[in-house]
Amino acid sequence: MGADDTRGFVSLDELIRPRTAAAIVAEPDGCGCAPATADEAAGCCAAPEAAPAGQGPVPVETHVKKRYDALAVQGTSTLCCSPTSVYTPEELAEIPDWVLELSSGCGSPMNAIGLRPGQTVVDFGCGAGLDLLIAARRVGETGRVIGVDASMQMVRTARRAAKEMGLKNIDVRVGDIRRPPVREASVDVVMSNCVLGMFPDKKEVLHAVAAVLRPGGVAVISDVVYSDDGPPPADVAAGESAGAEDFARCVVGMTESQYRDLVLGAGFGSVEMRSDGLVPYRDGAQVTSAMIFAYRDDSPAQPCC
Ligand SMILES: C[S@@+](CC[C@H](N)C(=O)[O-])C[C@H]1O[C@@H](n2cnc3c(N)ncnc32)[C@H](O)[C@@H]1O
Repeated sequence: MGADDTRGFVSLDELIRPRTAAAIVAEPDGCGCAPATADEAAGCCAAPEAAPAGQGPVPVETHVKKRYDALAVQGTSTLCCSPTSVYTPEELAEIPDWVLELSSGCGSPMNAIGLRPGQTVVDFGCGAGLDLLIAARRVGETGRVIGVDASMQMVRTARRAAKEMGLKNIDVRVGDIRRPPVREASVDVVMSNCVLGMFPDKKEVLHAVAAVLRPGGVAVISDVVYSDDGPPPADVAAGESAGAEDFARCVVGMTESQYRDLVLGAGFGSVEMRSDGLVPYRDGAQVTSAMIFAYRDDSPAQPCC
């Protein structure tokens, strides 16, 4: 895009400025979680901040977390993609049906990255845990897979899936990926599947991703974008027109080049981007999915694919 060619796109500053969703009315039950342990209570209730009852709009993140808590309880996702549109039948073999029902990604980061036995992997916004399960088989018993999600109900689902599949190298934590409960510079790979799109301030999350990577580490991020060469498609909201439900559906798009610039400005050494073309959403929308490879250092120590 040329410097003077705005074509109605919002600026990066507008895209990364935190905002609230005026259409969502505050609900009286705070963060809406029912933690079983003190640990869960800290992670769950510290994550999104709810506005006091009857006092204005609830932050986008509160709407998002409640939405995913409700989906986990319901046992079926209506948001984002079915995994059968983005993963192969072989990759999905042996995954419990109820995990597939709840999976809400928009790409297949586990296809894109060659994980090695012994590596430590973190999934930012792991949801019901599909990518955790695939990663855990690839890093093997000497490796470790950590999932982080703000929805305690999703975390419970992912823990149940790991237990049912007998995968002891998975550790699922309740937490906010803007302040992840993961030690700095401690992981080889961060993956994230259809999560960053739901943050008004994506840069804050990207800084947190960069911070947990070891030297030589890489982040593999699937997200919804739109083309540099035209207006956003009808299903993708941009800037101030976005409501909380747009964020929950991860369709608050950035153009590919805006996304690349944002990642580069968030503390990574180098960035590659691959367009995965149109993917079908569960609700019938068609969105453009992109895979971002963000290397902590200047030159990738680990080839992406
Ligand atoms: C579209 S779903 C994707 C889930 C999973 N990656 C998948 O592919 O099925 C987005 C997930 O991000 C989680 N999430 C939203 N905001 C979060 C936050 N601030 N911190 C951690 N997780 C968050 C939601 O609870 C939800 O599980």
